Formats: sequence, structure tokens, C-alpha cells
Amino acid sequence: SKPSILVTRAVFPETIARLEQHFEVEHNQADARWDKAELCRRIAGKVGAFTTGGDRIDADVLAAAPQLRICANMAVGYNNFDVAAMTARRVLGTNTPDVLTETTADFGFALVMAIARRVTESEHYLRAGQWDRWSFDMFSGSDIHGATLGILGMGRIGQGIARRGAHGFGMNVIYHNRSRLSADKEAECKARYVSKEELLRDADHLVLVLPYSPESHHAIGEKELAQMKPTATLVNVARGGIVDDAALAKALRERRIAGAGLDVFEGEPKVHPDLLTVPNVVLTPHIASATVPTRRAMAELAADNLIGFLVHGKPVNPLNPEVLGA
Ligand code: GLV
Ligand code: GLV
Repeated sequence: SKPSILVTRAVFPETIARLEQHFEVEHNQADARWDKAELCRRIAGKVGAFTTGGDRIDADVLAAAPQLRICANMAVGYNNFDVAAMTARRVLGTNTPDVLTETTADFGFALVMAIARRVTESEHYLRAGQWDRWSFDMFSGSDIHGATLGILGMGRIGQGIARRGAHGFGMNVIYHNRSRLSADKEAECKARYVSKEELLRDADHLVLVLPYSPESHHAIGEKELAQMKPTATLVNVARGGIVDDAALAKALRERRIAGAGLDVFEGEPKVHPDLLTVPNVVLTPHIASATVPTRRAMAELAADNLIGFLVHGKPVNPLNPEVLGA
């Protein structure tokens, strides 16, 4: 009989159909909300799981699924996985890198432009019927072309944003990362490596694209915000928790920075109430990779990982390859 897998959330019907060629599939096409107890009940007896960023896979869930061998996340980020616990139980984790890089970089740029040019704030004003005449300084923002673009976290997505800024908008690009890019890659992105202090001090628009980890928790808090220019904008397309949302809301309210564009939040889908009441912020519900072709590619790649590992013994994107060893 076919191996049994669980798909925790609704996905493309084509993805389910493809998985059903290889597996006995328990799915959730109604997209019901499962609490942890429900997830534990459903995952029991499965050898594989197709997961999303909202599914926390920890020691309790693993204990409920002694036959489990793989969790394939439909996301590049995988801070919803307790990788150490998975490795200890010899459960493979996989993610979906590369296929979402350019789409996510596009969206990072969309947020930079939306906040710098006050697109949503001015739209709210217009919709509210407040526009009765033009004025010389109405919704004046800051320039993007020729400005200094700062990038914290220079992975694939960070490099995509750097290339857009340097080649498309003639920006001066600076970055900080745990490790420096090769000279070739720096040249391709026209990006200059600087310390975190210089990055905070010199960026006109600062974009966060680093993975979440205990080390990156609150990488941007009150102290870092105080180092930024009062005219600067901050964009987060990485993960909630990298920014201290309460400290950011306070800095925005006090105009210690000019604005922020946020696609990710601490405690999603909840949003810090203070962020909802400051005008100088653009807020989107974790959609940076949400284009039709990219979401299809992510679902396909998560399915490739399940089929690759469970059917052919070869996952495409192993996160803890040590569990593959003898
Ligand atoms: C989305 O946040 C992802 O990690 O793919
Ligand atoms: C992170 O993994 C990235 O793709 O930037």
C-alpha cells in the first residue's frame, strides 16, 4: 500500500492530485483550523507531512507521529520547525528556496516604494473624502532613486533587492551579513559591505531579509532604531520577531524614523495594536511570495521533496541532511 501523508492546509487541487499518485493523502482542503491536539491526532501514523509556516513542528508533534520521516515546508523560512528535535528523531525537514527569490525581492521593493512615497497613507486620505485641493507639501516623501539602500541579511532575496536598487534605481547599496559575499557577487549587486552600525547610520531605506533565529530576535529594537536617520524607512519581509514591534510603533509615533513597511509580525496573524494606529506604516499580511506562479512553484517544490525523499530516497532541499546518513 502507498505511504500515508498529511497535508495540513488547503493547497492547489493539482498538488493534491499529484501527491495522490504516490501517497495515501489526508488533506485539509476545507482549510479548517487545527489546534495542536488536532494536528497531533492527524499526523499520527503518517510518514510524511506537507506543512506551512503556521504549523509548529516540535517535540510533542513528533512524539505523536513515531512513523514520521519528513516534513516538507511550503516556505523558504522554517523557524516553525524545531530542527534539533527533528534531527534527534531522524525526521528530515525540507523548504522551498530559490523559487520565491525574485517574487519576494519584488515585494520588498514594493514596500520600500509604498512607504517612501506614502502610497497607502495618501490613498486612505483620498478614500476618506479628505482631498479637497492640492497643496505644495502634500504627502511629500523621500526619494528612492539615488538614495542609500541598506540590506540586513544578504541571502538570495537580499541580493535580489540589492540588484533592483542598484541597477533599476541607481541606489547606493550597502549591506551587513554574518558573512561577506564573494567579490563577484558584491560586484553583481553593486553592494558594499559595512558594519551593522554603519548600515543603521547611513541607510535611507533599510530592508530586513535575514532568517529568524534566537540570534536575530529583536535585531532591530529601540537601540537600533535610535541609530537610524529620522528620515529613514524600514522594511521587514523576513520574519516577525526580528523587529521589536512595540519599539517600532513607538519610534514611528514619535517620528524617530519616517516610516516602515511590514509584511511580517510578532505573533502573526495578530498585529501589535500600536502599529494599527500609527499612520506612517504600510502593513501587509505575509504575502511577499504570493504571486500565482510562485505559489504554484512553492507547492510543486514541497511535493517534489516529499516524492523525492519517500519514493526515490532523494529530497531536493534537505535542511538537516545528517538524518540521511547511515
Ligand atoms: C515565507 O515567509 C517563506 O518563508 O517562504
Ligand atoms: C534566505 O534563505 C533567502 O533566500 O534569502
